[in-house]
Order: sequence, then structure tokens, then C-alpha cells
Amino acid sequence: MSLTKKTSDLKKRMRDALMGGGQVAIDKQKATGKMTARERIIALVDPKSFHEYDLFVEHAGKDFNMGDKYLPGDGVITGTGTINGYPICIYAQDFTVAGGSLGWMHAKKITKIMDHAMKLKVPIIGINDSGGARIQEGVNSLAGYGEIFYRNTQASGVIPQISVILGPCAGGAVYSPALTDFVFVVDKISKMFITGPEVIKTVLGEEISMEELGGARVQSEITGNAHFFAESENECFEQIKTLCSFIPWNNIKKAEAFPKKPPRTRSYNIDHIFPTNPRQPYDVKDIIRSIVDDSEFFEVQSMFAANIVIGFARLNGHTAGFVANQPLVLAGVLDVDSSDKAARFIRYCDAFNVPLVTLVDLPGYLPGVDQEHAGVIRHGAKILYAYSEATVPKMTVILRKAYGGRLHCHVLKPPAC
Ligand code: HXC
Repeated sequence: MSLTKKTSDLKKRMRDALMGGGQVAIDKQKATGKMTARERIIALVDPKSFHEYDLFVEHAGKDFNMGDKYLPGDGVITGTGTINGYPICIYAQDFTVAGGSLGWMHAKKITKIMDHAMKLKVPIIGINDSGGARIQEGVNSLAGYGEIFYRNTQASGVIPQISVILGPCAGGAVYSPALTDFVFVVDKISKMFITGPEVIKTVLGEEISMEELGGARVQSEITGNAHFFAESENECFEQIKTLCSFIPWNNIKKAEAFPKKPPRTRSYNIDHIFPTNPRQPYDVKDIIRSIVDDSEFFEVQSMFAANIVIGFARLNGHTAGFVANQPLVLAGVLDVDSSDKAARFIRYCDAFNVPLVTLVDLPGYLPGVDQEHAGVIRHGAKILYAYSEATVPKMTVILRKAYGGRLHCHVLKPPAC
């Protein structure tokens, strides 16, 4: 074959691969208000920074006439890029190709880019939009999930792992995002559940829509599975960019320092935030804004267990993790959900060299049979464990009171003192 023919064949193969599932499937994807996988990556990373891997990988399915089927890139796009200069590895499932379903080669592409992220010690971002395990590949597909879960677990606390749910994410597939550090969802687009509405109807006779069962709002407000909620895909990508500016690439680096800026004290003056009446609530987020650089507070899980507030901000240009009781919600008591929320965040900050600032205004644990029976003892213990285990600098400010639950337990002196 001549060189010219080889070159034109290659170009055609590239054009075909870049079209994913083809124009009809792309139009269907867009009609549901979703971007394509490729558009998502381009919208998220710096211009011209995306380097794609394994564009020509083909699926390994043979049964159910799969041998005759062409699935471009096996339904997932992988590669490297930068976000505001911050290096990342990324994959995006392409729903236009067999519903983004996960076959063996699809999984191999994902695990290869995860391994690469671990080797480079940079964050991995996974964009999920998939019908789950590829039915035609049966147990090979399930084995592919196993490989991904194993790597999620090995990478935990070593590199940041970010999951973006931009379509269905069902069955066991939900467990990869659940093993990662931050889960982003978009209203009306993200759907996560273990068993879908049809199974629930068959087994339990209950009727519920996908949105009510596992939509973005449910995952953000009720289950706590999601950390960031956005109204649109573009807003979601902006949130990811902001998060990347606050966290380090890996567990041996520190988050990048920014030029220090004073808080905007005209809007957030600490003297005016505390009510004169000690029984009156106030918004602890305003307290945080009154002390941090440029009054910029990037809240995590803002819609879940709002009686505790967690998130990132900068002090003198350096990232700090904030944990604060919120007197505005349930008087800032600790309960099962707020304990889980805080403990997980504290452990993340500890793993990634982010100092912790705790603002305490705590009436104690929420009393009651519901909480006791929901396991407030074992959930509450997670906070104590997380603080005690953390070796990053920890600073506690008692804003008004610290009764009952000892959120400030880490100020206790170790036995040697
Ligand atoms: C193979 C799949 C697929 C799958 C979708 N497709 N899911 N192909 N395996 N799991 C294909 C469809 O056949 C269709 O192909 C194309 O993707 C688009 O799907 P539609 O159904 O037309 O799209 P939509 O109406 O938007 O519905 C999306 C959906 C639905 C809700 C995700 O496709 C669905 O329910 N899929 C099956 C979900 C499922 O049961 N997955 C297994 C979960 S168990 P054509 O050729 O017609 O365009 C699991 C176990 C993991 O994941 C365990 C890990 C331990």
C-alpha cells in the first residue's frame, strides 16, 4: 500500500473514531440537553492541552453478533490535559457509542489512564455517562469494574479522584464514583442508583421516577453521595476548575499558593455578624468569609447535612480546610449525617496536606431515639477518629460554646504532654 493511501486511510479512521456513535446518536444526545463526551473534555481542559490516548482501541466482544459491530474507541475517551495549568488525567464515557456501556476494552482504557495518573501523581477525573455493564460482554464487563474499583481504592489518599456524573450511572457502576473524593452532579442530567425504577416496581411494587430516585438534587440533598450540584454542565466544569485551584496534585505536594488578599470586610465584618443575643443564630459561612482571603469560600456538600459546613478557602494565599458548626440549621447540632460529612472531609484534608481550621459553636449531639438507633455513636466516632488521626496543622476557634459533643477533641493534649 502506498504512503498516500496509508495516510488517507488513517485520516478516515480518525474521522470515523472522532464521530463517536455517529450524527444520529449525537443529535439524540444533544436533544436531551447533554454535551458529547468530546465536547465535555474540551470544555473542561485548557485549550489545546488535551492529548488523547487509545483512539483506535476496539472492543473485544464476540457473542451476540458483537464481532460485526464497530464501537469507536469502545465508548470511552481517555487522555491527559491541564486545567489552568494543573495537570490531570481524564476519561469521559461516550453515551453515543453503545450507551457508553462498559465492556472489557472500555475498562482497560480507563484502568490504563488511572495507572498513568498514579505514575504521574496527578488527579484523575472520570466523566460518567453510561448504561453500565455491557450486557453482551457479560462477566468480562463485571471484571472490568473490579479492575476500576481496585485502582480507585489504591489511589485513595494518593491522588485526588474526581467523578462527574453526566448521565445515567447505575448498578454496581455507582461504586467507582462512591470510592472517589468528589462527586459532581448536574440538575436533570445526572442519575445514580443501584437498582432502577423498574426493578423497584417489580420487587416492591413501588413506583418512582429516575429523577426522584437518584437525580442530582436527591444525591446532593438527601443521600450525600454528591459533593457539588450545578444547574448546567458548564457551571459544573467551572466548579471543577475552582476545586482544582484549591487542592494539590497529590499527597506529597501542597496546594499551589496564591497571592494573599485581605477579606472583604465591608461585606463581611465579624463584629456585625455575631448577634448580641447569644441565643440568636448567625450564618457561620459569613464568619469564614470575614477571615479568609478575598472572602472566597468554596463550600463542599452545601446541600447535605447543612448543620455542619465544610469547604476550602485561603489564608494568606494558602489553602485551608474549614469545618464549622452552622447555628442557622438545627442550631448547629451534630448528628449522623453531619458526622459522616465532616469526618470524610477531615480525612481528605489530612491525606492531601491541607491544614484544618475548625470553628466551634456546638450545643452537642442531637438527642433522640432516631439518632441513637441510626448509629450516632459509630458515626460520631468517625469525627473523633479523623481528627485524632490527622497530622496536618489543626486550629480550633470556639466561637460561642462547645457543649456535649467534643468537636474540638483534638485540642486535648496527648498523653506525653
Ligand atoms: C449494552 C447498552 C447498555 C448496556 C444502553 N445500551 N445500556 N448496551 N449494555 N448496559 C445501548 C442501548 O441498547 C442503545 O443501543 C444505546 O445504548 C442507547 O440506549 P437507550 O436505551 O436507547 O437510551 P435511553 O433511552 O437514554 O436509556 C438509557 C438507559 C437504558 C436508562 C441507561 O439504556 C438502560 O436501562 N440500559 C440498561 C441499564 C442496565 O441494566 N445496565 C446494567 C447495570 S448492572 P442502540 O444500538 O439501540 O442505540 C451493572 C453491573 C455493574 O452495571 C456491576 C459492577 C460490580
